[in-house]
Amino acid sequence: MIVGQAPAKVILTGEHFVVHGQPALAAAVNLYSKATVRPGVYGIVQISSPELGVKRSYPTRLINTVPSSTHDDSALEPLRLLVGKVLEEAGETDIGLDLEIISQIPVGVGLGSSASTAVSTTAALAEFLNLHFEKNDILKIASVQEKHVHKKPSGIDASTITYGGVLCFRVGEQPIRLQSNDQMSIVIGNTGSSRSTGVLVTNVSKRVAVGDKELTRINESAGNLTLQAVQAYKERDFDRLGQLMCANHELLMQIGVSTTELDTLVEAAMSAGAFGAKLTGAGGGGCMIALSRPEDRTRIADAISSNGGSAYLVELDTLGVRICEDQTDMH
Ligand code: MEV
Repeated sequence: MIVGQAPAKVILTGEHFVVHGQPALAAAVNLYSKATVRPGVYGIVQISSPELGVKRSYPTRLINTVPSSTHDDSALEPLRLLVGKVLEEAGETDIGLDLEIISQIPVGVGLGSSASTAVSTTAALAEFLNLHFEKNDILKIASVQEKHVHKKPSGIDASTITYGGVLCFRVGEQPIRLQSNDQMSIVIGNTGSSRSTGVLVTNVSKRVAVGDKELTRINESAGNLTLQAVQAYKERDFDRLGQLMCANHELLMQIGVSTTELDTLVEAAMSAGAFGAKLTGAGGGGCMIALSRPEDRTRIADAISSNGGSAYLVELDTLGVRICEDQTDMH
């Protein structure tokens, strides 16, 4: 049995704008997806997710061609494609295997659950099939699923989750991994409403495509803002980083991807003493994050909870994807 584990991610600055060429700053955090691969019945691939309540078997030979037959198993389609891709890489056409996915990462709320699942699955399958993949190889394959799920992803989610730590990311460039700082404390607030990243990204992209001047201006200031945020992070100037996160939230409000619920949680976190707070991920619902002093975390989490959100106190994950030694525990 092989278990691959991958973290969740939060975006500190630059979501959406990163799709349009700007840099963004992201961090891997310690909520995890786990993919377990076991030997299975010869010639059959079984994929299951107990949380989604779905399980399906495919003839290994046909895994790249069988389409989804029912609404129930459509949630497994991205994984089917991914398994097919890894088997193709390994030249396996008849092997039998069982793949089970479990995850602590809430789905569709901006924490990179689909990218995390893709990355942990790719790592586990590659290990099972003795493919000797490096992180770069895992990322390349996992991006297949991301494209299926999000249509035109920048790649920031899968990159952050694969490498771990804090990353300055720009499309088309090798991400820069910044030195991790364990003094950085993040509280996540989940509004509980899920949404489609693909739809939100497409809406913003349409405005960019028609040359919307306002959006072009905002896009450029967001890029600038991220460069300042990278500097503030390097200097461990969390006051400044927090201010920049708030300014970034304003820009995201201006492009129409925030919601009243997200704004409420951002305000609640700020009133409870956060350095800064903003929505994280695609917006339109989903999660916000607050940057806090370690000693203020609980107060900020309480403020989020009393304003209708679910709060998670998270730590940086510095390892990114890995094969788990301890196969019983989620951490
Ligand atoms: C999603 O976590 C971040 C977005 O910028 C989309 C992407 O970069 O692929 C909204």
